[in-house]
Amino acid sequence: MATETGSGKTLEALYREDRTFPPSREFMSKANVRDPKIYERAKKDLEGFWAEQAKTLHWFEPFQKVLEWKPPYAKWFLGGQLNISYNCLDRHVKAGKGAKVAYFWEGEPGDTRTVTYEQLLSETQKAANALKELGVRKGDRVAIYMPMIPELPVAMLACARIGAPFTVVFGGFSAEALAGRITDSEAKVLITADGGYRKGNVVPLKKNSDDAVAQSKTIQKVLVVKRTKQEVPWTKGRDIWWDELVGVQKADCPAESLDSEHMLYLLYTSGTTAKPKGIVHTTAGYLAGVATTHSMIFDIKDDDVYWCAADIGWVTGHSYIVFAPLANGTTGVMYEGVPDYPDKDRWWAIIEKYKVSILYCAPTAIRTFMKWGAEYPQKHDMKTLRLLGSVGEPINPEAWLWYQEFIGGGRCPIVDTWWMTETGMILITPLPGITTLKPGSATFPFPGVEADVVDDDGKSVPLGGAGYLVITKPWPAMLRGIYKDEQRYRDTYWSRFPGRYFAGDGAKRDQDGYFWLLGRVDDVMKVSGHRISTTEVESSLVSHPTVAEAAVIGREDPITGQSIFAFVTLRGGNNGDESLSKELREHVVTKIGSIARPKTIMFTPELPKTRSGKIMRRLLRDIANGQALGDTTTLADATVVESIRTASASGKDD
Ligand code: WTA
Repeated sequence: MATETGSGKTLEALYREDRTFPPSREFMSKANVRDPKIYERAKKDLEGFWAEQAKTLHWFEPFQKVLEWKPPYAKWFLGGQLNISYNCLDRHVKAGKGAKVAYFWEGEPGDTRTVTYEQLLSETQKAANALKELGVRKGDRVAIYMPMIPELPVAMLACARIGAPFTVVFGGFSAEALAGRITDSEAKVLITADGGYRKGNVVPLKKNSDDAVAQSKTIQKVLVVKRTKQEVPWTKGRDIWWDELVGVQKADCPAESLDSEHMLYLLYTSGTTAKPKGIVHTTAGYLAGVATTHSMIFDIKDDDVYWCAADIGWVTGHSYIVFAPLANGTTGVMYEGVPDYPDKDRWWAIIEKYKVSILYCAPTAIRTFMKWGAEYPQKHDMKTLRLLGSVGEPINPEAWLWYQEFIGGGRCPIVDTWWMTETGMILITPLPGITTLKPGSATFPFPGVEADVVDDDGKSVPLGGAGYLVITKPWPAMLRGIYKDEQRYRDTYWSRFPGRYFAGDGAKRDQDGYFWLLGRVDDVMKVSGHRISTTEVESSLVSHPTVAEAAVIGREDPITGQSIFAFVTLRGGNNGDESLSKELREHVVTKIGSIARPKTIMFTPELPKTRSGKIMRRLLRDIANGQALGDTTTLADATVVESIRTASASGKDD
C-alpha cells in the first residue's frame, strides 16, 4: 500500500536506499565548518588540530605538551590547569552572557523552569559549598541518582568545581544496580531526589537510594532534592534536604585549578561480563573533544535552541546535554518525562513551544514515532528545526527518511553520530555543511579521528567489505581506563588488535568510503539504545532459586532495535508457566532495572551446548530470530535442538 507523505511522495519512493543528500547551498553557506580541507589538515597534524581546539577553552595554566601516547594510555594537554565548571559557567557570565538561558526545563507534569547561565553559576557555587560542608574534598567520589531536573547538571558541575569525581547512575536502574556502582566507586555522598515523574507515576528514587545505601559501606551523607513531594523514608543525621543545605550556602565558591588529567567522572557501562565497567573520563581532553564535536557537528550558533532528548544518566547526556552545550554557551532544552505523556505529541509540543532548532535523539524513538503516525508531529509548527541528529544504535534508512521528511520537513540535514561511553565524544559522523549524506550511514570519522575496518587478522578490509571497527589513533576524550581494573581495560579494548582501539562494533565501508555500522559483535545488546550485557541478564536470572541455567540473546526488534530474549532451564526438570515467567522478568527488574526486563522468556528442558560445554549462542540467536538452523554437528545432544525448536514454536512474547 502506498502511503502518502507530507510532500505527496510515497514512502516506497523514499525507501530507495541509494539516495544521497548533499548539504543545501543555504546550509553550506552558513555552516560552522565549510572547508573540506579540515580533514586533511587534521590528518597531517593531529596534535596541532586538537591543540587549536583546546586553546579555545579557558586555562588557569596553559598546557605544555599536547599528547603523550604510551599505548594503551593517553594523556592530553599535559601541564595544563583548568576547571570544567569555570569553562561551562563563569567564562560566559564574565563575558556578559549571564542572562542567556542555559536550560529551558520542562517537567513531565507540565511545570517549567528557565535557568540562565548566571543562575546556574550561582546554584552550582552553592551546591559546591554544600558538598564541602558535607566533607567532600578534591578526589572524593560522589554518586548521583536523580531525575531529569536542573539540580542534576548543578550537582555534576558542583562536583567538577571542587574536583570531586562523580558517577551518575541512570534513574531507571534498580537499588541493587545503584549499590554495585556505589561500592565500586567508593562514593562518600549520594545525591538523589524524593522521586521523579515517569508516565504520570512517581519513581521512588529515595526508597531505592535507601535500599542501595543499606548495602554500601562508604556513603556517609545523602543529599535529597525535593521534586515529587511524597512521603519518603528518612534517616536522621545521614539524610539532608537539598533546599535546607544548598539553599543557605553562599553563592561564592571559586573553581579549583585542576590538572588536565584530573578525573572528571566515572560512568558505568555494560560489557561482556556480569560486572559493569567504570569508565574513567578526565578533564581537559574530554572537554576539548566534546565541545569541538558539538560545535562542528551540530553547527551550533549563538541563537540556537538545542535539544538532546537523551537522559543525563547515559553518556550522551553527560557529553551533549551538560558539558559540551554549556562549554559552548548554548541554550538547551531539558525534558523530564516520556514522549507520550499526556499524549503522543509531547515532543513536538515542546519543539513548538521553545522554538527548538536542533534535535538529537535515538533511532528507537524515531521508530516509535513512526509507529504512532505522522499526525502527531503534523499537529505542530516545527519550522524552527534546522538540524537533526541520531545516536545510540544503527538507524535504518526507513527511519532516517521518515525523520527527515516528517520531523525535519525535508529541509534538515541529519547527523548520524557513532560513538560510545568509552569514546566520550562523537567519532564517526557527518559534518552537516560538507558531507553528502546517505541514509543509514554515519559517514566518516570526525577530523582528527582515524578509524579502520579490519578482518580477523587485523588487516584493513578493502572498500566494499565488512569487518571490525577499530580506532587507530588516540583522541582527546578517550577513556583513560576502567576504574580499578587495568587488566580488563587492556583485555577489552587493546588486546584484540594491539595498539588499536577495538570498539566491539561491526562495520562496513562502501565503495565511496562511507562507514556503515552493523551492530555489536560481542555479547552486548542495544535495547532501545540502552546498552545491556547478555551475561548480566543471565546472571540475574540464574540468581533466582528456580533457575538452573539461562542464555540471553538480543532478538531483532522493529522498534527497539533488539529485544531481550531469554532461554531458561529450570531446576529439577520443572516446566515453567506464565506466572513464573512473569516472576522471572520482575526478578531481573529488581536486580538491574526495568530497561533489562526480558521481553520473551522461553523455558527449555536443555540448552544447546558444544562438546566442550559452551552454550551455542549463535544457534539460539537463529532460533529466536526464526531463522533456519545452520550446522549443528558440534552439538553434544542433537535432540536438544529439536526440543528447543518445538519450544520455540510455542514460545510466547508478551
Ligand atoms: C552503538 C552511546 C550505530 C554501537 C553513545 C556502540 C551506534 C554502542 C551509533 C555504544 C550509531 C552508538 N550507529 N551504532 N550512530 N551510536 N551506537 O556506550 O554499537 O551506550 O558500540 O554509547 O552504541 O553505546 P553507549
